[in-house]
Amino acid sequence: MTEFIVRARAAPADPDRFLSQVGQGLGVEYLADIVRHSLFVSQGHREDVTVSLVLEKSQDFSRVVSISGASLGSLDDIHEAALLKAIADALRAGSVLKKHETRTDDRGISVTAKSFEQLVRERAEAGTVFLLDPDGDDVRKEEVLSELAEAVFVMTDHTPMPKNTYKSMRRQGVKKLSLGPGMLHTAQCVSILLNELDRLRNNPPLLND
Ligand SMILES: C[S@@+](CC[C@H](N)C(=O)[O-])C[C@H]1O[C@@H](n2cnc3c(N)ncnc32)[C@H](O)[C@@H]1O
Repeated sequence: MTEFIVRARAAPADPDRFLSQVGQGLGVEYLADIVRHSLFVSQGHREDVTVSLVLEKSQDFSRVVSISGASLGSLDDIHEAALLKAIADALRAGSVLKKHETRTDDRGISVTAKSFEQLVRERAEAGTVFLLDPDGDDVRKEEVLSELAEAVFVMTDHTPMPKNTYKSMRRQGVKKLSLGPGMLHTAQCVSILLNELDRLRNNPPLLND
């Protein structure tokens, strides 16, 4: 199982505010791109990928909207408006949640009232977490190859991560991972990484002991 966690610091957790930002140049459309690139391939979807979007602009708690490829098939469509509506629907269902509560709709999309920090801490306690960053270890470096298959990959949307975020993540064992020298869009990072994982699965490297 692969999970992408995307921190969307400026994205409203309120569903109406979220939808009102569409087309306003504020970047919520990137989230639809990220979902599409994470879960869909030509004529199919990835059963073993989950994408978790953390929408942080909230009056109370951030909301984590998680969409798993394993429960797909019930989304109406995958064009931008349909995906943004699916996110907004999840946020609406999650608007009554108390801290750490989760609700899952009949399409298998879940929403949890939880902070980005708490989510990453939980994942780091359970397994391998990488923060995607051009300054990290190269994704093709031999030392990291064996850790990629079951990992969680953390990114931001277009809003940069606060400078000191990585300090606490590093204490939890989170490592930086680079996909190359250029600064890419988040959805592009997702596609490149999934391609690396596909290639590794089909052609596992002979690693030195
Ligand atoms: C669009 S970028 C962030 C751009 C933002 N303006 C900034 O300066 O941080 C979104 C995410 O993709 C990651 N990313 C972009 N290019 C990358 C690369 N070459 N390797 C690893 N991660 C990358 C970033 O680290 C970030 O988490």
